[in-house]
Amino acid sequence: PLHVLICNAAVFALPWQLTEDGLESTFQVNHLGHFYLVQLLEDVLRCSSPARVVMISSESHRFTDIKDGSGKLDFSLLSPSKKDYWAMLAYNRSKLGNILFSNELNRRLSPHGVTSNAVHPGNLMYSSIHRSWWVYTLLFTLARPFTKSM
Ligand SMILES: *[C@@H]1O[C@H](CO)[C@@H](O)[C@H](O)[C@H]1NC(C)=O
Repeated sequence: PLHVLICNAAVFALPWQLTEDGLESTFQVNHLGHFYLVQLLEDVLRCSSPARVVMISSESHRFTDIKDGSGKLDFSLLSPSKKDYWAMLAYNRSKLGNILFSNELNRRLSPHGVTSNAVHPGNLMYSSIHRSWWVYTLLFTLARPFTKSM
């Protein structure tokens, strides 16, 4: 049985790079990885009812959009080319993806006893998510005394 699945893996501030699948890394690690894992485990979760999925998202999702100027979902924003890549924006978009996925998962599976919720864990400066770039490591170190610990 699998009663609780916590989707917490994430990267932050990576330089632009593609995965083996040809997708931008932040998008694939932070969103698609969880999306795929949950698809693979869906039957197990259903059979384990009551079960819950917890998506670790971020308040950063508020600061972004995945729609183009005409209000349509723009898939090129999800896995941008190198020239359109901005690490912070990619992170924020991946966190919006977590919330949209969690909401839809909850809509589909809650009638079967599997709930999904997305949470903002707080600004956890004690994590090592900033390790990809020294500037963020410096900023996180300076902010650390003012944030909560694990
Ligand atoms: C990303 O989210 C952070 C809040 O965590 C915000 O300060 C920042 O402006 C956002 N950046 C972009 C490019 O969306």
